[in-house]
Amino acid sequence: MGQSPREAPLLEIRSLRHEYRQPDGSRLRVLRLDSLRAFRGEALAVAGPSGSGKTTLLHILAALVQPSEGEVLFDGRSLRASHPSSARWRALSVGYVFQDVNLLPDFSVLENLLIAGEISGVPRAAAQERALSLLRRLGLEGRRHNRPAKLSLGERQRAAVARAVLHAPPLVLADEPTASLDAENARAVTDLLLELCGESRSLLIAATHDEAVKKRFPRLVELNKLAELNKEGRIVP
Ligand SMILES: Nc1ncnc2c1ncn2[C@@H]1O[C@H](COP(=O)(O)OP(=O)(O)O)[C@@H](O)[C@H]1O
Ligand SMILES: [Mg+2]
Repeated sequence: MGQSPREAPLLEIRSLRHEYRQPDGSRLRVLRLDSLRAFRGEALAVAGPSGSGKTTLLHILAALVQPSEGEVLFDGRSLRASHPSSARWRALSVGYVFQDVNLLPDFSVLENLLIAGEISGVPRAAAQERALSLLRRLGLEGRRHNRPAKLSLGERQRAAVARAVLHAPPLVLADEPTASLDAENARAVTDLLLELCGESRSLLIAATHDEAVKKRFPRLVELNKLAELNKEGRIVP
């Protein structure tokens, strides 16, 4: 894991701030991160209490949300959430594991993986081969024709990990991927993410508030809960 001395960072964050405007005109400051440089092959846990901006940060890193201030450079280029090219960039460059799994309910596990492969431009035969090999490794080969609802939570989350890494994207974002799992399954999913992302030298950034999960990551970014501002810009106690 880690980088060679001359390698450029895959991801660079500069003076990032985000706030949401509330319907009553007040502003909710949710994120402040002054600088971060992360390299291919690294694994970072983003920790912090509920409401500290973990999901917002991952949305910004996936170019789904444009930060209020600052910038995120990916491979030296600034992310632009509203730009028409961002959807294509995301499909090719990002694998996303959602807290609530989000597998397509009307498709089998294998089809879920193949659809993800198609969206990210993996040739059909290669996607089929990679999907089967991942499912075999995850002990899910025998469940490949089942719909997600037939699987246990742990199995579903492992399938979601396989789907996120199918195209070996440079960046894998995982939003509390173990939140709904027991300790044993949480550990299995975490180890799987670390192992698969290590193999493809993907940069893994996982939001978590689970202490056991946090400890398995070599790098940790702690977020703090920020203040809410009223219409006049004063801090709401
Ligand atoms: N689209 C939104 N509009 C307004 N407030 C939001 C929006 N999304 C999140 N928030 C608020 O921003 C804060 C941070 O949310 P989030 O990024 O989901 O934190 P975490 O993932 O750490 O729990 C929370 O107080 C949440 O209610
Ligand atoms: Mg969240």
